Amino acid sequence: MTNNELISAAKTAMKSAYSPYSGFQVGAALLCSDGAVYLGSNIENASYGATVCAERVAFFKAVSEGKKDFSAIAIVGGKGGNIQGFFPPCGICCQVMREFCKDDFRVILGSTGEEYKEMLLSELLPVAFSRENLENQNPEKPL
Ligand code: THU
Repeated sequence: MTNNELISAAKTAMKSAYSPYSGFQVGAALLCSDGAVYLGSNIENASYGATVCAERVAFFKAVSEGKKDFSAIAIVGGKGGNIQGFFPPCGICCQVMREFCKDDFRVILGSTGEEYKEMLLSELLPVAFSRENLENQNPEKPL
C-alpha cells in the first residue's frame, strides 16, 4: 500500500467524523504489518473530555481485533472537512502509538492532493514514557 493510498483511506474515514462541537473532521488509516487497514474518525461528546481522536479510534479498533504490529498511520483533518494543511496527532495519540509501535513507526500527514509529510514516531515523541520505564526502575540509571 502506498502512502497516497493510505491517505486516501484516511480521507474516507474523515467523512465519518462525529464532531458537532468543534466542527473539525479528522480521519486516520492505520496500516498493520500484515497489510490490513483500520480506519478511525474523531468522536466527540457533550462532555468534551470524553472525546476520542481519530488516531486512537483506529488503534483501539485494530488492537481490539487482535492486531499488535503496525507500520504506518495516515492522518488528515480540517474544519468542516476542509483540509488546509497538515493535521498532526496530539500528544495523547502519540502516547498510544508508542504503546504499540517502535521509533520507526511512520506517521504520514496528508494534505490536499498528493502532498504529504512523513515523520517517524521518534520525531513526534522523542523522549517517550513507555513500558520500559515501568520495567527498568533503577534510580542509579535514569533516562
Ligand atoms: N483530534 C483528532 O481527532 N486527532 C488529533 O490528534 C487531534 C485532535 C480531534 C479531537 C476533536 O474532535 C477535534 O479534533 C478538535 O480538537
